[in-house]
Amino acid sequence: MATGRRENHRENVAGRANVEDTPELLAYYDELEGLDAGALWTVANKIEPWQPKSSSVPVLWRYEDLRKHVLRSVELVSPEKAGRRVIYLNNPGRREHAAAVGWLYSGLQVMHPGEVASAHAHSASALRFIMEGEGAYTIVDGHKLTLGANDFVLTPNGTWHEHGVAGDGTPCIWQDGLDIPLVNCLEANFYAVHPKMQQDVAHPVDDMSHAWGAPGLRPAGSEWSKGYSPLLKYEWGPTYEALQRYAKASAGSPYDGLLMNYVNPVTGGPVMQTIGASMQMLRPGEATRAHRHTGSSIYQVAKGSGHSIIDGKRFDWKERDIFCVPSWAWHEHANSSASEDACLFAFNDLPVMHSLGLYREEAFGDNEGRQPLSS
Ligand SMILES: [Fe+2]
Ligand SMILES: [Fe+2]
Repeated sequence: MATGRRENHRENVAGRANVEDTPELLAYYDELEGLDAGALWTVANKIEPWQPKSSSVPVLWRYEDLRKHVLRSVELVSPEKAGRRVIYLNNPGRREHAAAVGWLYSGLQVMHPGEVASAHAHSASALRFIMEGEGAYTIVDGHKLTLGANDFVLTPNGTWHEHGVAGDGTPCIWQDGLDIPLVNCLEANFYAVHPKMQQDVAHPVDDMSHAWGAPGLRPAGSEWSKGYSPLLKYEWGPTYEALQRYAKASAGSPYDGLLMNYVNPVTGGPVMQTIGASMQMLRPGEATRAHRHTGSSIYQVAKGSGHSIIDGKRFDWKERDIFCVPSWAWHEHANSSASEDACLFAFNDLPVMHSLGLYREEAFGDNEGRQPLSS
């Protein structure tokens, strides 16, 4: 705990810093501060916690609450002026970083038929998950991808990309997910607007899905060495079918139900270098056991209804609701329907945790893996 007039985080535990303040030490700390330096033992217990301490709080964003505000932004700003017409998810513990959880950003973007956002590129990796509407498309480095509800699309680090809705489409809303806070934390973010504002479509529409989208098959002679998946779009139909087929083959995990990761078909690894994504299915009545792990996740309910318990707090969700699980927070999920399955889309920073050797996972051992409710 901090004592006196300056920080001194003492712990009465062998091996931890525990130096009491004295007038002589306080004067010494003042002298160090004048040299832009400090005594580590005053802050060591704070900067080296025993376990991860997330400043993010678990939050559930109800779509029925947000949707009308998202649609209202269409009347208030144009995509030309706003750049992107997005309502972002602002975690109360992460406001200074505009993060939805941890080092991940998320927002809801709306576009009307005939609208086009200008092409741009950034160092942050991005994805979108389509929530409603028809006629949405994304163009990534000249590859045009048509998008429908529950489709998941990548706009990786450094690619030119733009979004729009066809003139004969309907108003479209999708969830954006980016690692902007992480890339800013690493002080490595660049942003560029395309010199022509719009890019040309240089390939047949949906060519990457046609070439790379068949499970277990790879185009002969294909070359792909970029750090992200060439399958830029993952459609809902085959994803849901894969989960249903997986359910015939496996009981799944007690902590995740039937969970399948979206992967780069070339490497089998995550879809992008810094962001991973998954779709998990909870069978009728299924309730998972609680676990926790390093890495932050943002979920969107793609199908069904149920609840999650996150660090002892219950969050009831239904289709299109979004919620976050901070790093090292206990979490368990339950499908409330006795007859319908529930599907949760999630994206996360797990590729960062794994590639930096920081991934750790723990099961909630007591009470048959179920957390007691704190509220
Ligand atoms: Fe972007
Ligand atoms: Fe988990």
